[in-house]
Amino acid sequence: MNNFLIGLFLGIVMVGIIMFLYIRSVNQARRYLDDSMDAIAQGRYETRMYEYRNRGGDTKLFQSFNRMADHLEITIEEMSQERDVLRHILQNMTTGVIYLRSDGHVQMVNRAAERLFRRPVEQWQDRDHWTVLRNYNLSAAIDHALLFGTPWSDQLTIREGLAVSVRLVPISSGPRINPKSDSAHDVLMLVNDISEWRRLERMRSEFVANVSHELKTPIAAIRGFAETLLESDMGEPARTKFLNTIYDEALRMGNLVSDLLELSKLEATDSRIDPVAVDLATIADRAVDRLKRVAQERNIRLITPQDAGSIAVWAEPDMLLQVFLNLLSNAIHYSHDGSEVRVTWDVLVDRVKVHVQDDGIGIPSESLDRVFERFYRVHKDRSRASGGTGLGLAIVKHIVTSLGGEVGVDSTEGEGSDFWFTLSRLNSPETELS
Ligand SMILES: Nc1ncnc2c1ncn2[C@@H]1O[C@H](COP(=O)(O)OP(=O)(O)OP(=O)(O)O)[C@@H](O)[C@H]1O
Ligand SMILES: [Mg+2]
Repeated sequence: MNNFLIGLFLGIVMVGIIMFLYIRSVNQARRYLDDSMDAIAQGRYETRMYEYRNRGGDTKLFQSFNRMADHLEITIEEMSQERDVLRHILQNMTTGVIYLRSDGHVQMVNRAAERLFRRPVEQWQDRDHWTVLRNYNLSAAIDHALLFGTPWSDQLTIREGLAVSVRLVPISSGPRINPKSDSAHDVLMLVNDISEWRRLERMRSEFVANVSHELKTPIAAIRGFAETLLESDMGEPARTKFLNTIYDEALRMGNLVSDLLELSKLEATDSRIDPVAVDLATIADRAVDRLKRVAQERNIRLITPQDAGSIAVWAEPDMLLQVFLNLLSNAIHYSHDGSEVRVTWDVLVDRVKVHVQDDGIGIPSESLDRVFERFYRVHKDRSRASGGTGLGLAIVKHIVTSLGGEVGVDSTEGEGSDFWFTLSRLNSPETELS
């Protein structure tokens, strides 16, 4: 009996010990699981559960935990990569983007918006849009969009010289995103700089106005003289004089139209210019040949470099000829009878700088910046008398810049002018010269 009792006692003690050990190991495993869960909750997604000798536990539970952690880690990684891509796109786009929370405070701005509004990001973050935008119409429209979800777009001038188009896109925020807010919409504000586009628009309309004005003058003259001829019975000398004027004006109109056609042709073929190696001296001589007669009439000598050797420039032969013709005819036209016009060039490392110089009437310094503009004429009467339209130098500039070169002028009023342009030089001996 005693033995039975001792056995029972020992059995109970054994069971107690086993239960104690089991409960301890379960508790340890639970604590371990709790700790691991906490680690994940704190963002340490690399946490995994391992089985140690002194740490009991359920292997299957650990495996499930590890699978979950793997999955979570991959998903979070993918999401953060996607977020980075979006952030790069947002920061580098040219459209200004401003995100306004439903309480009217700025949540996010990108770099373009910082630049457009000249305000660093710190001065936007969490501020009310009224205090940062400082534009009554815009802020009123934003409030309307926040409250009623009304989209809005308009063009505004933010400051001197900066015109923008603004678009407000209300985004339904709903109670899930912002439970405390009274208004139901966030607003995405998109801002684009349209100053350049406005400038081009203005240039286009100025151009049309200029062309119409330039055409109106000769047309009025021709009509006036023709009417007089028809109505009055005049003598032969007066008749000839009137007819000559009509002829000159018609010539001027013809010049204007062909210059305009030349310009628009140049603009249309801008991207299709196909430069080749061209011998500079050949083209210069060709231009001088064409203008020889006009120069001789006024006893002006045209001088080109002799024995300069062949210099290959990267250009389009007809266009280069046009550049020489325009510069030389100006030099002849704005020179005194009996003077000389010189063509010279400096050979630089990778470029050639070509000069067309005269000892003529020169250009006042305040006009130097403007002579390459379309329709700009310093000597209006002199230019008009020759049928000049003020487009010759604009054509020169257009051609040279589309060939990758530069143009310029140095001049002293009363002493003469030096018009120059640069072109790329080619020195490979096997290039075929045209
Ligand atoms: N070599 C020069 N010397 C002095 N003034 C010049 C010279 N070349 C050009 N100019 C001035 O620059 C203006 C613009 O020249 P541009 O060649 O563009 O027009 P234009 O000669 O008047 O007419 P066209 O379009 O028929 O050439 C001229 O009206 C003239 O006043
Ligand atoms: Mg000219």
